[in-house]
Amino acid sequence: MRFNKTLIIIFLFSLGTRVAAQTWVVPDDQKAVVAPLKFTPDMQKQGEQLYMKNCQSCHGLPGKDNWAKLTPPPGDLSKEKAQKQTDGEIFYRITTGKVPMPEFRNILPEDDRWSVIAYLRSFNPKYIQPNPVAKAAFTGRIVTLSMQYSEPMKKIVVTASEQLKDGQAGLASGVEIMLYVKRYFGKMQVGDVKTTNAKGQALFEFPADFPGNKDGYVEVSAMVNDPKSIMKTTPANATLAIGVPTDKPSLTATRAMWSTRDKAPVWILLTYTLSVIIVWGFIFYIIYSILKIKRLSNG
Ligand code: HEC
Repeated sequence: MRFNKTLIIIFLFSLGTRVAAQTWVVPDDQKAVVAPLKFTPDMQKQGEQLYMKNCQSCHGLPGKDNWAKLTPPPGDLSKEKAQKQTDGEIFYRITTGKVPMPEFRNILPEDDRWSVIAYLRSFNPKYIQPNPVAKAAFTGRIVTLSMQYSEPMKKIVVTASEQLKDGQAGLASGVEIMLYVKRYFGKMQVGDVKTTNAKGQALFEFPADFPGNKDGYVEVSAMVNDPKSIMKTTPANATLAIGVPTDKPSLTATRAMWSTRDKAPVWILLTYTLSVIIVWGFIFYIIYSILKIKRLSNG
């Protein structure tokens, strides 16, 4: 009895997670998005090529119901289930994807995504395109960083400039800056986030004993802290002679756990080889035993 109950609970639970996995909600403001251009036969033709390259492997040929057998099913995009959605809804799904469908945000530029939609709409005789609305120009701050080392101040000076509304360049105050140095495995942040002053500058102390390369150079990069990506920003990178000259062999030059196979530590090579030999030995022993049983039963 108790066993049955457990089974039912497991069943309901997996059903629940399946249902949750299948909902793919598009935010209302995204549903309302319309294409920036009127769909033309040229766009549809270009969309067809893009579709064949990027979508057909999973969604099959429109109208042929020959989509790949995946979970969840990709479906035929010329059919009602997809066609009853708004252009904005389809655009959002192409942009963001959902496992196993890739997100096309960085694969297809926006215009290409609209061309694919233009192509898909050509299979729907009832479709009437809503009036196009050009995408509003970017109105946020456009910030570019530069970086120097100030010898008299003994500080790294990051300067932020921005494009002003009249097209002129100005110094950007109130911008949060993060400073990083390159290490063996990725980047390490130096100090806290600093906000640029009225001159557009943020000053960073640099540890005096920081190991650089054999000539004392350190690779430094400065970035704008913009977690909500409301700005368009360009980071600054520089190689500065501010470290202590350190003559260490590269990490992958000697035998180490993280190294490539020919430089792996000897004990790892030995244990690995030994376990492979033991496993294969077992397999051969089993085959040998089976053959022996056969021979005995035959004889
Ligand atoms: C790796 C396979 C794969 C590729 C490639 C792929 N998709 Fe998908 N797509 C899927 C799957 C699977 C779903 C179903 C997702 C779900 O319902 O949760 C889906 C769903 C969709 C939906 C929603 C359909 C609906 O009925 O709600 C649209 C629209 C869509 N894909 C468009 C595209 C377009 C356009 C491309 C090419 C630019 C593309 N997909 C490429 C696998 C893929």
